[in-house]
Amino acid sequence: MLALTAREPFTDLDAREIQSLAERHGTPLFIYDDACFRDSVSAFLKTWQSAFAQTKAYLSYKTNYMPALCRSGHALGMGADVVSGFEMEHALRMCAARDIVFNGPLKRAEELERAAREGITVNIDLEEELETLEALRSNRRIADARLGLRINPGQPVFDAADRSFIEAHAAKQRSAKFGWPLDDGLARHMAERISASGFSFETVHAHLNSQITSPKLHLAALEPVLGFVADLRASGIEIKELNIGGGFGVPGMQRSKRGWWSALKATMGERLEDVPDETFDMAAFTRALARRISEHGLDDLCISCEPGRYLMSASMVLVTRVAGLKTLPGKRWVVIDGGLNILPTAAFGERRRLRFLRAGGELPLRDDDPDCTIGGPLCFEGDVVMDHARVPASLAAGDLVVLSDAGAYTVSRSTNFNQLRAAVAQRDGGDGTLVWRRETYDDVFSFSD
Ligand SMILES: Cc1ncc(COP(=O)(O)O)c(C=O)c1O
Repeated sequence: MLALTAREPFTDLDAREIQSLAERHGTPLFIYDDACFRDSVSAFLKTWQSAFAQTKAYLSYKTNYMPALCRSGHALGMGADVVSGFEMEHALRMCAARDIVFNGPLKRAEELERAAREGITVNIDLEEELETLEALRSNRRIADARLGLRINPGQPVFDAADRSFIEAHAAKQRSAKFGWPLDDGLARHMAERISASGFSFETVHAHLNSQITSPKLHLAALEPVLGFVADLRASGIEIKELNIGGGFGVPGMQRSKRGWWSALKATMGERLEDVPDETFDMAAFTRALARRISEHGLDDLCISCEPGRYLMSASMVLVTRVAGLKTLPGKRWVVIDGGLNILPTAAFGERRRLRFLRAGGELPLRDDDPDCTIGGPLCFEGDVVMDHARVPASLAAGDLVVLSDAGAYTVSRSTNFNQLRAAVAQRDGGDGTLVWRRETYDDVFSFSD
């Protein structure tokens, strides 16, 4: 279970505290709860350490790279998982180089050189990355590199009521941009290629997807990965670490899982309801994974992971202000001042928990309150934060709407399309400490002459 302690800010913050933070720092505003984040990291590490003799956890920077959060994760013993050169530079300022893993689809020559010199593990995703490292070694710019291979078992990891969604998802998994497929020998070929390069090659990496809520499907997808590692070892390639990536789902929000069948039903006026997600049971998952690792004779492997959402999602909330409401014949819009610019994953049809506040008090929800579409401030129709949301009938301009689970893929994925990026205030029992200041016009236009 996710360490959803009483400290989760969505339930723990009282209306007056939210109101005063919004007055002081403006909206839209993220509120970060460092104690909640640290609790969830500690519980996670404890679970992993009790399941595996050797284990490491790398904090996924792409999920949230706020320095305040990274510092807390590293202080508790986490390394860093970075997916770009700029994330790598940030991580080098935050933690020891040997605790950094460099993933991602693009690794420039100068970034590969820096990573190799610093002793950062590089997970190879393109053959060209290996060729670049070999050229750097021939030119005596580097002596060695610590390498891993990213593979793709191509297995589905999501379940849904709509079979058309499952089929589309399974096809996508098989032909994903990331990793080398196990099926047709491509992963094997790449492993032999890396091994023959003479660089140090000790890791197999297999991040599967994000917001996976079924431990059963997650484990089933890892099964061929374990077989692959066992085969490599049997053929003399001494893999020491298996990094299973992140992707562990959180219970605080639900993602829509609909395919063409749901779309067809919708045109006929029917709605196919999503099956509620399971709560990812981390203790059961790690115990089952440890058993399977044992069955494959891989007990001496270091089992590592790169959790993002699971550790961070609940530790932030987003506070927005209602700009206005519009009642149309078939729809009632609530327009708020934060949208896909700062909550981009809402585009996956995510359903978050909501609170509605006025003058430091809660606006209660009633069963007969209207069904609304909550739209953001961006100038395109798709800027929908949540569809079919029940909203208090009395909600009015100026009221606050608080959204749960705003800690993952928000600050790190924000854009300044139409709007400036939002601020983050850390809870401190008082007025809040600004840990990420609001973007200014000068920040944006500093790129021009
Ligand atoms: C390589 C890698 N590691 C870790 C993560 C973190 O995933 P999540 O936030 O779902 O745990 C991602 C995100 O997709 C990723 O691409």
